[in-house]
Amino acid sequence: MADIKLKGITRRWNDFIGVDNLNLDIADREFLVLLGPSGCGKSTTMRMIAGLEEVSSGEIWLGERMVNNLEPKDRDISMVFQSYGLYPTMSVYENIRFPLRIRKVPASEHKERVLRAAEMVELTQFLDRRPAALSGGQRQRVALARAIVRAPNAFLMDEPLSNLDAKLRVSTRAQIANLHHELKTTTVYVTHDQVEAMTLADRVVVMKNGIAQQIAPPMDIYNKPANTFVASFIGAPAMNLIEGHLEAGTFTSPVLTVSGLPHRHSGPVTLGFRAEDVAVVSEGGNLAAPVYSVERLGDSTMFAIRAKDDLISLKADKAASLAIGDVVRAAVTAKVSHIFDGTTGQRIEPLLIPA
Ligand SMILES: Nc1ncnc2c1ncn2[C@@H]1O[C@H](COP(=O)(O)OP(=O)(O)OP(=O)(O)O)[C@@H](O)[C@H]1O
Ligand SMILES: [Mg+2]
Repeated sequence: MADIKLKGITRRWNDFIGVDNLNLDIADREFLVLLGPSGCGKSTTMRMIAGLEEVSSGEIWLGERMVNNLEPKDRDISMVFQSYGLYPTMSVYENIRFPLRIRKVPASEHKERVLRAAEMVELTQFLDRRPAALSGGQRQRVALARAIVRAPNAFLMDEPLSNLDAKLRVSTRAQIANLHHELKTTTVYVTHDQVEAMTLADRVVVMKNGIAQQIAPPMDIYNKPANTFVASFIGAPAMNLIEGHLEAGTFTSPVLTVSGLPHRHSGPVTLGFRAEDVAVVSEGGNLAAPVYSVERLGDSTMFAIRAKDDLISLKADKAASLAIGDVVRAAVTAKVSHIFDGTTGQRIEPLLIPA
C-alpha cells in the first residue's frame, strides 16, 4: 500500500490544458474521489497516476518513489473501468486469475486467492460462467475481483458504476465501500455523480476545466462550498443561488431580502441556501412565489417556486398539500445563507457565526 503525491501535475496537448497544476497528497488508505462534469480532467488525472498518460509537467510520487518515468506495470496499481474489459472467452475464474498469471505469482497460490477475491464480491457461484452469461452488475464485480486479487499499491476506478441501473449502482456502491473498509487500499475513484462522491469519499476533489475547485471531506464541501460552481454541483437539488447586492449586512434582490448577515463585505454577491434549510411558513417570510413543480419523493416533497427568473427548490413534508400555481411563503434566514462574491463566485466567510 502507498500514499500518492501529485506535485503540480499538468497535462497539455498543444495549447489545450486538460489538467492544470494539480497538487494533492492522497494518504495511504484514503478513498479519494475526483468529481466534476464531463471533460473536466478526471480521467486524464487518473491515467497520469496509472502511467497511461504522459505528464507534461509536475511529479507523481508513489510512496517514496517518483514514478513519472515508471511503466504502468511497474507502478503496481489496479484499474477498474466503466467498460469492464473482461476476456469473453475465459471463465469468470480465469478472468479473475489473469493478473496473477501475468505477474508470475506462484501457481500454488492462485486458487486460494481467486476464491477469496470472488467471495468478497459474492461471485463464488458464477466462477465457471463466461462473462456473456452474466448481468452487468455481475460483470462489474468480476472486474472488481480481478483488481483486488493481487493486493496492489492502489486502486484506480474510473466511473465503474455508470453502466449499471440505478438499483445495482446503489448495491455495488455499498460493496465498494465495504471492500475498501476490508482491504484499506488507497483508492482514487472518478465519477461525475455527486451522490457517489458524497457516499464513498474520505475526501472529494471537485474539478472544473482541469482545475481543482475544492479538496475536502464531503460534508465540508456540502456545508461550505468554496465557490458557486461547487455549490451548484454538490447536493440534490443543488444549492439555490440568487444574485443580488450586499450592504451593511443586508442582502437585497428583486425576489428576496435577508438582513442580519454577519458579513462586512459590500457589493454584488450571490446568496445561496439549501432547500432543506428553509422553512415554509403560512404567514410572513421573505420569499413568496407560485409553485412551479411538485415532486413527491415518498419521504418528503421537493418542489420549486418561480420567483421572477429564478427557480427555487424547497423541501416540504411528505404530506404537504401543494399544487402547481399555489403561492408559497418561505423564510430564508441569515443563519442558513451562504454568501459568494458576485464577480468571482468565491465564498465569503462570515465575520462571526450568526445567532
Ligand atoms: N489525447 C487528447 N488530445 C487532446 N485533448 C484531450 C485528449 N484526451 C483528452 N483530452 C481533453 O482533455 C479534457 C479532459 O478529458 P478527460 O477525459 O480527463 O475528462 P473527464 O473529466 O474524464 O470527462 P468524462 O466525465 O466525460 O469522462 C477534455 O476536454 C478532453 O477533450
Ligand atoms: Mg472520464
